[in-house]
Amino acid sequence: MSLSIQLAPKHQRGLLLANPVMTASGTFGYGTEYSHLFDIQKLGAIVCKGTTLEPRDGNPQPRLAETACGLLNSIGLQNIGIKALIKEKAPIWASWRAPVIVNIAGETIEDYAQLAGELDGVAGVSAIEVNISCPNIKAGGAEFGTNPESAAKVTATVKAATSLPVLVKLTPNTNNIAEIARAVAEAGADAISLINTLKGMAMDIPKRRPLLGTATGGLSGPAIKPVALYMVYEVAGVVDIPVIGCGGITTASDALEFIMAGASAVQVGTATFTNPRAPLDVLEGIEQFMEKEGIDNLTELIGTARQ
Ligand SMILES: Cc1cc2nc3c(=O)[nH]c(=O)nc-3n(C[C@H](O)[C@H](O)[C@H](O)COP(=O)(O)O)c2cc1C
Repeated sequence: MSLSIQLAPKHQRGLLLANPVMTASGTFGYGTEYSHLFDIQKLGAIVCKGTTLEPRDGNPQPRLAETACGLLNSIGLQNIGIKALIKEKAPIWASWRAPVIVNIAGETIEDYAQLAGELDGVAGVSAIEVNISCPNIKAGGAEFGTNPESAAKVTATVKAATSLPVLVKLTPNTNNIAEIARAVAEAGADAISLINTLKGMAMDIPKRRPLLGTATGGLSGPAIKPVALYMVYEVAGVVDIPVIGCGGITTASDALEFIMAGASAVQVGTATFTNPRAPLDVLEGIEQFMEKEGIDNLTELIGTARQ
């Protein structure tokens, strides 16, 4: 039985995963925090926290709020910064069997170029995932990923700055996800991951104010799964690069739905907050399903709902 998957088939070195289950950025720290809880090396890949040029303390508290079947967050990219990541985390990752993908976030195109350039050739870093759900401060704060031109520009800039495979992570906060996916693919992305969180908010009734310190935040968890699944289905129909599904995946059944919609791999995020070994449970469930159904190769399942 083979679960291995090539996530960057157009890239010279490629990004070969032993299986399709990854962690989602910002929900699994740097991986190191979880290595004592289960054998994280069994995972297909680990995507680390969103990383910026400078260290960030993140947004004011409260930064988390539970909602019906979901979670609102406004962490604000709290992270140690690219220099500390390269110095302290990458040497640990270099000895791991599971590839580590570094998620990057910028406020300008130049930030993304510099981040990608600094990661190039760093042992322990297998690929870059570009978070384009960040506000473009030179364009009035609109998210890079809500406009096909700026999404393509970030993609092309990162590709030019690194020899690593580049995954571009789309925001669902747009009405033209297919157009953005096409623009990103044409700009040279090796794979597309989607979705990031949906914009949302909650109120603190006694205070009569928004619950989150930043008023609005990003919604994740099972509440967003149908939206994510639809967007993966849509995007897989318009690009010829691998698509990585993310959004509310909690069980192997969830993951299988995304794979049938056209995803070559999946990311497990919010589910790890209630069950840290959720990514491994998802993987084991996929294996059991394949065994039961007599499926020898995972690729047989990808996009079956589209045929
Ligand atoms: C607390 C938290 C922090 C996150 N941080 C990041 C981040 O730094 N970069 C990023 O691209 N996505 C980030 N995300 C989005 C997730 O990676 C994922 O796209 C989203 O939560 C949907 O998947 P899920 O429902 O499985 O969590 C974060 C999500 C949560 C809940």
